[in-house]
Amino acid sequence: MIVTIDGPAASGKSTVARLLAEKLRASFLDTGAMYRAVTLAALKAGADITDQDQLLSILTNSDFKFAVKEGKMIVSIDGVDVTEQIRDAKVTANARNIASAEKLRERLVHMQRQFAAKEKKIITEGRDQGTVAFPNANIKFYLIADPLERARRRQAELKTKGSSENLEKIKMAIEERDKSDQARAAGPLKPATDAIVVDTTHLTIEEVVEKLLDRVEECLKKDQR
Ligand code: DC
Repeated sequence: MIVTIDGPAASGKSTVARLLAEKLRASFLDTGAMYRAVTLAALKAGADITDQDQLLSILTNSDFKFAVKEGKMIVSIDGVDVTEQIRDAKVTANARNIASAEKLRERLVHMQRQFAAKEKKIITEGRDQGTVAFPNANIKFYLIADPLERARRRQAELKTKGSSENLEKIKMAIEERDKSDQARAAGPLKPATDAIVVDTTHLTIEEVVEKLLDRVEECLKKDQR
């Protein structure tokens, strides 16, 4: 069973995917972490992040590992745990260049399919999971939320990490990322034609999870008939 959750930055995908996976006893894959890991490795290597061949060589020559431990996605590069480092602001700001590299996307999509092939049930989240990576997924969701609400969520998340940032600035950065995610030629951010669009602006995380869970259970019952 493959469930895809796509949507823009800070729409709640990661948290929802993790909680839904817990309820369904499924594995989960945070594909943004893969783009972030390549970004971090490229920055550390001082690579030209607009050069696809340099990025591919980094992906080939480093040992990237993605694993789920206690409901958390653990990322390591050459044996070093970078789970926290890939969330740095610098990585976030540079990831969109990496995300528009077509050849790299092909390789990462291939890795995502390999990861999913090993699992009985998987919830996978990103931007192109329902459109490109898993067009035949059992059920596809596309989460959206008002940019101001997404900025508030991001601000609250930053606060828990001890940093404060101006709300308007966060909102602008989010809108800029939306634009660049939607505009790229390869794997752009958009809902699959058969995705269920869920507006999370006025919903709590728990409400979103319940909503998705209901739809997944409905879908599983239909498949059993
Ligand atoms: O979801 P996130 O913020 O961790 O994603 C990090 C970056 O990777 C962001 O620039 C969007 C990009 N991304 C992508 O292009 N395709 C995916 N499937 C997942 C993330």
